[in-house]
Amino acid sequence: MAFLSLGVAGYAAFVYGVLPPGSLVHSDMKVTYNTHATGIYTHVFGALFALLLGPWQFSMRLRASRPLLHRWMGRLYLGIGVLLGGIAGLYMAFHAFGGIVARTGFGLLAVLWLSTGLLAYLAIRAGDVASHRRWMVRNFALTFAAVTLRLWLPGSVASGIAFEVAYPVIAWACWVPNLVVAELAFNRDRVAA
Ligand code: HEM
Repeated sequence: MAFLSLGVAGYAAFVYGVLPPGSLVHSDMKVTYNTHATGIYTHVFGALFALLLGPWQFSMRLRASRPLLHRWMGRLYLGIGVLLGGIAGLYMAFHAFGGIVARTGFGLLAVLWLSTGLLAYLAIRAGDVASHRRWMVRNFALTFAAVTLRLWLPGSVASGIAFEVAYPVIAWACWVPNLVVAELAFNRDRVAA
């Protein structure tokens, strides 16, 4: 997971840090990214923090040996990655390629990303570690949509499905299964306990 997250973070940093906006996407998306450059750059570079920091937050060893580091990385993850990246992601969702289906998919993803982040924060402020952990797992499952989206895309191209058809479906497929897997993992842990 950490490997894939860092891979997508590297892709985003290179493509949006070095190339002109929307260099590797559909020509309609390129027009949108040029029109809403602040929105897409805030989204990409904000959300990058979540992908870069998120995977290490689940390391029990790091939490036990460097609790202050976990706290600061968590603040950056939530404050820059999720809050900044999520608000800009919600803004970009209104302009996403793929019509109402894609826009609703990305929009709901953004709302859930922001709200699970808020619930995780409130839980830890209230001292409820178990609830904080569950909300963070859900939140990172949503962060991981940035990875699964980029696994679905080449998969759909390889199977010959037109991008215009695949993209609205992928706007949902990139995050709904991630949340289901997170919930199944909670249930398995509960049964095993
Ligand atoms: C989990 C919540 C997220 C939401 C709601 C979201 C939403 C969006 C939206 C709406 C777009 C524009 C799509 C279009 O124009 O059709 C976009 C593009 C993009 N997002 Fe996100 N995103 C999320 C997470 C992330 C994360 C964690 C990253 C990591 C860096 C990321 C990186 C990108 C990149 C690089 C693009 C430009 C498209 C590309 O070059 O592949 N997103 N996102």
